[in-house]
Amino acid sequence: VYLGVDIGTSGTKTLAIDSTGKLLGQASASYPCQHPHPLWSEQDPEDWWQATVKTIRQVIRQAKLKKQDIRAIGLSGQMHGSVFLDKQNQVVRPALLWNDQRTAAECEEIEKRAGGRKKLVGMVANPALTGFTAPKILWLRNHEPRNFERTTRVLLPKDEIRRRLTGEFITEVSDASGMLLLDVKKRTWSKKLLDKLELDRSLLADVVESEDVTGNLTPETAKLLGLSTDCVVVGGAGDCAAGAIGNGIVKSGIVSTSLGTSGVVFVHSDTPDVDPEGRLHTFCHAVRGKWHMMGVTLSAAGSFGWFADALCQSEAASASKSGKNLFAELTAEAAQAPAGSDGLYFLPYLSGERTPHADPLARGAFVGLTLSHQRGHLVRALLEGVTYSLRDCLEIVESLGVKTRQVRTTGGGAKSPFWRQLQADMFGKRVFAMASDEGPAFGVALLAAVGAGEYKNIVEATKATVDTTDESKPASAARKMYDRGFEIYRSLYPSLKQDFH
Ligand code: XUL
Repeated sequence: VYLGVDIGTSGTKTLAIDSTGKLLGQASASYPCQHPHPLWSEQDPEDWWQATVKTIRQVIRQAKLKKQDIRAIGLSGQMHGSVFLDKQNQVVRPALLWNDQRTAAECEEIEKRAGGRKKLVGMVANPALTGFTAPKILWLRNHEPRNFERTTRVLLPKDEIRRRLTGEFITEVSDASGMLLLDVKKRTWSKKLLDKLELDRSLLADVVESEDVTGNLTPETAKLLGLSTDCVVVGGAGDCAAGAIGNGIVKSGIVSTSLGTSGVVFVHSDTPDVDPEGRLHTFCHAVRGKWHMMGVTLSAAGSFGWFADALCQSEAASASKSGKNLFAELTAEAAQAPAGSDGLYFLPYLSGERTPHADPLARGAFVGLTLSHQRGHLVRALLEGVTYSLRDCLEIVESLGVKTRQVRTTGGGAKSPFWRQLQADMFGKRVFAMASDEGPAFGVALLAAVGAGEYKNIVEATKATVDTTDESKPASAARKMYDRGFEIYRSLYPSLKQDFH
């Protein structure tokens, strides 16, 4: 039996699978996210740990597992977050998350120290973006020098959980890529950039491949979790690469989209290709010796969550009383509104935007409201706006000559047949749901199975365990309408930009 643990932004999800990929049990636990200032986004790493312990114990109970049954654990999590630790391994301050936007000045500082954007991309394959980890480290040095002085290590969210499970300071290539300190082509830390930024290598963990074993559970943790010290923890992967593994994106030709808090368009790549305009990220894949490119929209299903929280509180309360799903109800309302939402558009830039604008100050907007618009129109415009933002990413992927025959979609938003059809119509491609749509936790449970020797490599493991299910086919009339809508959507950001800044 293999466990997958995903330290997400809204909560931690843990699952257990057997060697055929069959789901034996799963549990999740949520935690808050703090926004002490408008562009800030922080979490307490202790909450991740508590959620990890709780969900692992719950899964063991639920699936009636014995401690010797569990051979390996795979870790996944939100990427880019900065866990600052002192000499005693105490957390110095709350972690800055991937959607935190406070580091624009530090991104400029990094480009300058690197000798310009081109040189920076030459070292780490990516430009400096506010969500990445290196600008967060510089922010700490510039704004909280006392905390910086105390910091002896900087770990990514899932790697902090690894430290607490195994006592080891180890990361793996896919997540390390998002720190902006990894020479992505060579899959090792960029000594050159570290020198230019005057950062010590000792701040960083050692880097391994995603399926490598990184250590055994410590005796205390094994006891706490009810597991054996023979249980190993493998490298795992950042949530984007882990989700893609769970979708079987281990070869070129198939693209995956994910509709979680963030939205991701992900393609496998045999070589470390770089978008010359820096709109897509080039990161190491969780497939040994391979890479991937991806575009990230910061508020995808997160936009829908915001809408429900901000505007539908009483419906949320009554839905939870009657056991109904508020999102399903709102989506049913959206389905009643016509395609194109009677000329209403939504920009999903609620926490700035990464792809394609790389603009931390971008803002969300509804544009085109009239007296005849009902709530269903607003929800439909919101779902359409988020899907247009994925199309923005997909078009960049295709403009680089990457062929995409088929789309596989996952994440909370992908559970909705309506939203899957919207993707098919907007992309003009067949869109498949996954037979086992368990997201990143499933992907890293498969990496755990490889690490434990169950499969030769992750390509073999996905071949044996990953399958697609419901297909949504593009409807040509809707496609045409959305082509026109996409042009209008795309024209809105440039005309509003100066008002956001
Ligand atoms: C990826 C990114 C997000 C987080 C969300 O670059 O920032 O997808 O990983 O968990």
